[in-house]
Amino acid sequence: MELRLSPEETQIVDLAEHIAKDVLAKHAAAADHGKFPAGNIAELGAAGLLGVKIPTEFGGLAGSNVAAVFAIRALARSCPSTAVTVAVTNMVADMILRFGNDEQKQRFLPNLCSGHWLAGSFALSEPSAGSDAASLRTRAERVPGGYKLNGEKLWITSGDVAGVILVMAKTDPNAGARGISTFLVEPGMAGFTVGRHEEKLGLLGSSTVSLAFEDVFVPEANRLGAEGIGFEVAMTALDGGRCGIGAQAIGMGEAALNVMAQAVEARKKGDRTLGTDQGTQFRVADVATRLDAGWLLVLRAASMRDAGKKMAKEAAMAKVFATEAGNFACQQAVAMSQGAALDRHSPAARLLRDVRVSRIYEGTSEIQRLVIARHLAASVS
Ligand code: CAA
Repeated sequence: MELRLSPEETQIVDLAEHIAKDVLAKHAAAADHGKFPAGNIAELGAAGLLGVKIPTEFGGLAGSNVAAVFAIRALARSCPSTAVTVAVTNMVADMILRFGNDEQKQRFLPNLCSGHWLAGSFALSEPSAGSDAASLRTRAERVPGGYKLNGEKLWITSGDVAGVILVMAKTDPNAGARGISTFLVEPGMAGFTVGRHEEKLGLLGSSTVSLAFEDVFVPEANRLGAEGIGFEVAMTALDGGRCGIGAQAIGMGEAALNVMAQAVEARKKGDRTLGTDQGTQFRVADVATRLDAGWLLVLRAASMRDAGKKMAKEAAMAKVFATEAGNFACQQAVAMSQGAALDRHSPAARLLRDVRVSRIYEGTSEIQRLVIARHLAASVS
């Protein structure tokens, strides 16, 4: 397989790499002390990178899924907190483009893509519905002119700063996954409140909150797609999102590889260097090989999505492998940094804290394996 980027894709990748190095890297330490990277978002919005695949008429870059994963990988090398915020915003914008009507596209996409809004948010998980997403309980009851929403969402990335939140809710509680619909909730809607801010292990610059809905009136004009297709919207979003999280983990893993090289350099003894010490050679070789393998799986899934093919299995394979490779790389960076990694804000410690959640959010490694196995079973039966 030869992967050749088009001139337009190359431009997008160059733009992301340039902003990652010149802007994000400078603010990564502040993000790791809990500062939401609003300045980064403004720069990325001005460059169109909050809507990589969105047509230019709405302020995006009209790019591909492949370009988007390259961009997220580049951002994650410098600031993983910014990368996840941007990945989720892109995912939300994609769903509005895919399932929204003309009025919704006009109303939401320019605000999202330009960075006028700090983020878009995706609210699927609930206190009693994490991996088993279809068991969610948030209820959307029909009322004249729209719906009344009641319920609670948990672990929602950017839920407090987003200009629009995709909320999955039950419109028919007796219809299982087919009874779920998606709503475009806006933060000013009466009855909508932001709850607890999670005190996380890593990704401290990205915000993760709970959300509550108490008789929130959502007009019919804010339903995304037909009633009952909300689970399909969520799964379609996650098929793309899982490629993005895989790319984020690879970016962090590559940053870890760089930390490993620096650690070796710092402890150079005579002529024993990265290239000559066999213990080190084996370590970096394993890390680099796993990262490359993960990255190729991410690219395969993203290019299948660009070709309009079904790619849920390939996205799950990419996510499980790439995030586990990223975690492995960051563990090795901590091991090789030795005492320096005891400082929790050191590059190695930060990467290890930041990368862990990539194996959990947008579907745990176990869920990815379940998706892969189900597809395999379906293809042999
Ligand atoms: N694309 C389109 N439709 C799909 C689909 C896909 N990839 N996968 C499933 N569907 C459809 C099925 O075809 C089926 O439709 P029909 O009823 O018409 O046949 C329907 O959805 C139900 O499918 P399943 O029976 O497979 O559903 P399930 O209840 O067994 O669940 C699951 C499947 C894969 C386990 C799913 O619940 C899942 O992905 N769980 C993990 C949830 C998750 O990833 N949460 C992440 C939260 S968001 C986040 O983390 C973002 C962030 O902030 C960083």
